[in-house]
Amino acid sequence: MKLFVLLFASVLSGFFLMPDKISEGKFSEKSSLTEVLLRLGDKKPLHYTNEKDSVLIQQGYEIITKGRTVNPQGKKSSLQSKYFTCVDCHNVMIEDPDLRKSDPDARLKYAAKNNIPFLSATTFYGMVNREHWYNQDYQKKYGDLVKPAKDTLVNAIHLCTVECSQGRPFEKWELDAVMAYLYSIEYKLEDLKLTEVDYKKLNSFRKGEKNEELIKWIKTFYLQYSPATFLDPIKKENREYGKNGNPENGKLVYEISCMQCHATGRVTNYTLDQNSIDLKHLKNNLKTKSYFSLYDITRKGTYSLPGYRPYMPNYTLERLSHQQLEDLAAYINTF
Ligand code: HEC
Ligand code: HEC
Repeated sequence: MKLFVLLFASVLSGFFLMPDKISEGKFSEKSSLTEVLLRLGDKKPLHYTNEKDSVLIQQGYEIITKGRTVNPQGKKSSLQSKYFTCVDCHNVMIEDPDLRKSDPDARLKYAAKNNIPFLSATTFYGMVNREHWYNQDYQKKYGDLVKPAKDTLVNAIHLCTVECSQGRPFEKWELDAVMAYLYSIEYKLEDLKLTEVDYKKLNSFRKGEKNEELIKWIKTFYLQYSPATFLDPIKKENREYGKNGNPENGKLVYEISCMQCHATGRVTNYTLDQNSIDLKHLKNNLKTKSYFSLYDITRKGTYSLPGYRPYMPNYTLERLSHQQLEDLAAYINTF
């Protein structure tokens, strides 16, 4: 009898959960990139999960956007961080009009059009489709601290919960929920903007074999990592103080980037609102050497201090261009 129940249970769970079952048939716009790559014979990522439970996904979404959710015991979980939520620095939607490029100018336009923030860290959308995290200058500058995160998404998440978010690491169930959520916002083929000819080519794959060429080809439609170039503040003699900047663009940066954290009631006590006192303060410091100079603060950021944890991440070249910084200066100069 026991055996029967067990057998029955496993058949049932196999039926409802269909662990690791990959769909058959032709690839279409709604096919997930992971499904495509696995059917083409690519390796499963280390962080792979086929968990599609909607409750778990919702929990993951709440952890990412609010820092807490209702835990498996039915109680409100404790905040991951007292200072930040993940979405203070990361978007959860597509933020680049062309997934093959990390271009801040195109991103700013796209953000304005789609009414989303313009942030210093990269979006969670398609995060599970990347193959490397904390790239380039993050590896150079932080060395051993970020090394384990380079090839392992779960390590990157652990690192960011503690170092970026200044909070506690996720518990196991939270990590599972977050991974399920991240897979719910992975790339779909429609995001790659394939043409009809491309779909034909893709659907010509050989089943049950490794389609090396097609795998390589499909990976040319998106970046497998977010490039990151750190900059020193631009040299004094090269600063234009907004002379050739576009104040309209600058206003946009101010509103959908700086004010994300600096508006009243947000993550810092240093408030920057849309009033002339705050903007004049920035203007008066534009030419100084202090932390209040745009040129310094944007490229250096600030550090978390033991008594005061909130800090400002620096903007890399890929997240704020030289011209955008000049645009911001031009805007500030209008006050
Ligand atoms: C104060 C800002 C900030 C907060 C809050 C924050 N992050 Fe990050 N995160 C960063 C920065 C900066 C990077 C490195 C740049 C990048 O994303 O490419 C990063 C990188 C990452 C990466 C690797 C991305 C990549 O492609 O290199 C992951 C994964 C990540 N964060 C997860 C999280 C999670 C989960 C949370 C919430 C618990 C969180 N982060 C909160 C700033 C932040
Ligand atoms: C992810 C959140 C975040 C974003 C985005 C952000 N800041 Fe900050 N910024 C902070 C925090 C936190 C501090 C730490 C200062 C404090 O709270 O006292 C800070 C500090 C500063 C300071 C120095 C103040 C001091 O007390 O040292 C300036 C100036 C500043 N930010 C300007 C900007 C500008 C301009 C932008 C947009 C280009 C911007 N910040 C974007 C979070 C942010």
